[in-house]
Amino acid sequence: MRILVVGSGGREDAVVWKIAKSPKVNKIYCAPGNGGIARHAELVDIKAEDIEGLANFARLEKIDLTVVGPETPLVLGIVDLFEEKGLRIFGPSKALARLEGSKVFAKETMKRFGVPTADFRIFDEAGAAKSYLDRIRMPRVVKADGLCAGKGVVVAKTKKEALDAVSGMMEEKIFGSAGERIVIEECLEGEEASIIIIVDGKNFVKLASSQDHKRIYDGDRGPNTGGMGAYSPAPVVTDELYKQIEGEIIKPLLGGLAKEGRTYRGALYIGVMVTKTGPKVLEFNVRLGDPETQAILPRIATDLVDIIENAINGKLSGMNLEWDRRPCVSVVAASGGYPASYEKGKEITGLSDLDNMKDIAVFHAGTKKGERPGNGSNLYITTAGRVLAVSALGEDIKEAIDNCYKAMEKIRFEGMHYRKDIAARALKR
Ligand code: AMP
Ligand code: GLY
Repeated sequence: MRILVVGSGGREDAVVWKIAKSPKVNKIYCAPGNGGIARHAELVDIKAEDIEGLANFARLEKIDLTVVGPETPLVLGIVDLFEEKGLRIFGPSKALARLEGSKVFAKETMKRFGVPTADFRIFDEAGAAKSYLDRIRMPRVVKADGLCAGKGVVVAKTKKEALDAVSGMMEEKIFGSAGERIVIEECLEGEEASIIIIVDGKNFVKLASSQDHKRIYDGDRGPNTGGMGAYSPAPVVTDELYKQIEGEIIKPLLGGLAKEGRTYRGALYIGVMVTKTGPKVLEFNVRLGDPETQAILPRIATDLVDIIENAINGKLSGMNLEWDRRPCVSVVAASGGYPASYEKGKEITGLSDLDNMKDIAVFHAGTKKGERPGNGSNLYITTAGRVLAVSALGEDIKEAIDNCYKAMEKIRFEGMHYRKDIAARALKR
């Protein structure tokens, strides 16, 4: 098979790495990819948002299957476009990609089907939002409706923070049209977990649970980032809790959509807050998580291409996924200063020391291949805030953590920053 993967981050490197292990696959392209992805795939210079360009490429290159990593092309309707042209692609339709693309749509859908989530109000006008905030108690969460690259959510402890968020989104329009409508919701307390399922339109298979670390510094301090590390499984998601999530969230959602004649096909990421009164949905993503995927895929023994093909063909019912029972920890190394301004173009050293380490994988997120006479093969240069992730398996969570950091210590680039406490919460349990 000839496969095209769309995207350029650590998640896409992990997907390409896993697909490259499939005996069914003889050629992988990645658009636009990154330096590390070029280890297993031929890079194609087409942006993930250029869905017409991607469709043309897939047709000309006779691609058998396209796998989409990030949300933007899904929200733009890449799946509808490919299907119109008779091209096979894995992901939800434009209409259902709105579960991530519009927080208003997600909240209204959950409300209609009785899916537990934070109580909320929707506003399309700043004055009404502000007078509502004047009447209620803090903390509250203010969310821009549309895609904001992970920056559209403000957990406001004080009235001033909440009012400033409303002004920024609705009056200063810092997110453009994404902030024309907002959601103001109850602030939930508990531990977060990431639940990812693969859906074939009707049936689904569960991937192992995982947990992200969104803040830049140890102890969950500092500003939010795209994710500084993850581990799988997440012990907070016991078998009993997973059953509850299935019964109270997944089945009502998929059943409700089916009753309305809508079918979801693709990966569905459910961000859950485990509260004292049970699991509640924080958000949906219509794709695999980043960096969760870098901690989950090293544990799946089943061929990822088989899972994806069964999802596209409506044949997930009865499919049993095989798992490596060992936990996996994935730590992200970022450029100094990220998520604020940072320098790029730094040479990364030590990567080849990891080549022969067992149960270790390096997934590149922001790298390109460097060139220096006499040292062509393993020279990489930083190109983004999140540079790479090291994923490690271990007999138990402690061993996975130790293996991961031992490997990470070999890697260096100027300004490199990574959290030292990824998976500490799992260890504590
Ligand atoms: P979202 O993009 O909706 O997942 O929001 C990003 C992050 O904001 C989540 O991972 C949570 O840490 C936090 N968050 C979102 N909604 C809430 C809520 N209702 N209560 C508490 N924290 C929230
Ligand atoms: N890890 C959160 C996300 O993928 O959006």
